Amino acid sequence: AVLVFLFAAGCMGEAEPSPDAKPHYIVGIDGDYPPFSYIEADGSAAGFDVESIRWIGEEMGFDVTIQPMAWDGIVTSLVTKRIDMVYSGMTITPERQERVSFTKPYWIVNQAVAARSDSTMTIDDVLAGEVVLGAQRGSTAADYIKTNLVDTGILSQGDFKEYASFPLAVADLENERVDAVMFDVPVVNEFVVEKDLRKVGIVETNEEYGVAVRKEDTELLEILNEGIDRLQASPKWDELKVTYGLE
Ligand code: ARG
Repeated sequence: AVLVFLFAAGCMGEAEPSPDAKPHYIVGIDGDYPPFSYIEADGSAAGFDVESIRWIGEEMGFDVTIQPMAWDGIVTSLVTKRIDMVYSGMTITPERQERVSFTKPYWIVNQAVAARSDSTMTIDDVLAGEVVLGAQRGSTAADYIKTNLVDTGILSQGDFKEYASFPLAVADLENERVDAVMFDVPVVNEFVVEKDLRKVGIVETNEEYGVAVRKEDTELLEILNEGIDRLQASPKWDELKVTYGLE
């Protein structure tokens, strides 16, 4: 009977976990979203969110693998179990909540508009639909632009361009294919110092970042909420804020 069991287990590809084996979760990130999640020159993942989940994993007793992937469709990857959570500057929205569950909010952001440093546009010009705008496909910035500018007829469809990642949008900004881009404030702050860009202004959207998990993973959700609590109560939290220039 033991042999039959082992054979069957082997066929199903499921080894018996050793009693002290830690759970292992695959964390989906956008690898182009500094300071929250990005890939270093040596190929390793880094960022405020990446270090947060590594710390929470240590604290709560699970292992993590960081999996960079396309942002657009990352929720589908979670639902279809290619990853176990999204921890990558993801805003909690009602649309996403129809498909996945979120932890408690751990960060709050607004949207910022950036342009080339030689431009003279104001945020009012942007909101009046007077400039060609870029944003990341599947982001809350793209939603904001569609809902408030395109669908209202303020900005023509052709004057809004969507990109797979932040660096691709910035490249088109530098090449003058778009006049301005809209992204979460901390990400824009990160890039304006590196590139020859100017922060034009801010749109107050008051978005809350949360970690997304599958709806059925209620136990993992509780573990993450506890982990976030412990992280925010620990000295590591301030250390991370300093390291990644967040306040
Ligand atoms: N916070 C915005 C959103 O949830 C932008 C996120 C983009 N984040 C990222 N990792 N690419 O849509």
